[in-house]
Amino acid sequence: MAEKQSMNKPYFRFMTVHDIPHVMEVENAAFTVPWSEDAFYNELLNNHFAKYIVAVDEERIVGYCGVWLIVDEAHITNVAVHPDYQGKKIGKQLMQEIIEISKHLSAVRMTLEVRVSNHAAQRLYQSFGFEIQGVRKQYYSDNKEDAYIMWVNLS
Ligand SMILES: CC(C)(COP(=O)(O)OP(=O)(O)OC[C@H]1O[C@@H](n2cnc3c(N)ncnc32)[C@H](O)[C@@H]1OP(=O)(O)O)[C@@H](O)C(=O)NCCC(=O)NCCS
Repeated sequence: MAEKQSMNKPYFRFMTVHDIPHVMEVENAAFTVPWSEDAFYNELLNNHFAKYIVAVDEERIVGYCGVWLIVDEAHITNVAVHPDYQGKKIGKQLMQEIIEISKHLSAVRMTLEVRVSNHAAQRLYQSFGFEIQGVRKQYYSDNKEDAYIMWVNLS
């Protein structure tokens, strides 16, 4: 993973527990139903399948992305960019990084769930070749919204 930073360009690195308070700022700003701080601690400390990366712009964490790597499948858990930084290709770069990491760790396909109303995220995923292959009915507990299940082959 590239860890260089040049003017106005974010860099990407693995998330650590020290990042969590800053990741929470992204999380709370980006989602109506954010994950809790405990959920991130649990992912980083107890889930050996999980890998999380952050996007850093001028020392500020502006986005993150997570994946569970189980045998040859990669399951994206979440991707978010702080609203102040959306539309600057940071989401795209986070996805690129996590795909490279997943391929490096032997994943041959990748999946995720996305709200049926989240067209911005769906377009992002479609730009990487993800296709809708199923629906999880009432997957989101806050408003009982359905989730599309999307898949892409990485090989
Ligand atoms: C979805 C999200 C991660 C995209 O990150 P971003 O940095 O703003 O997106 P990028 O600038 O990298 O855009 C990449 C592509 O995503 C799509 N996209 C991003 N924002 C969009 C919008 N508002 N409307 C439509 N498409 C959009 C486009 O296809 C775009 O490519 P293009 O600019 O070449 O057309 C970001 O909007 C976000 O954090 N949203 C809230 C949290 C969320 O919904 N996460 C996904 C959970 S499944």
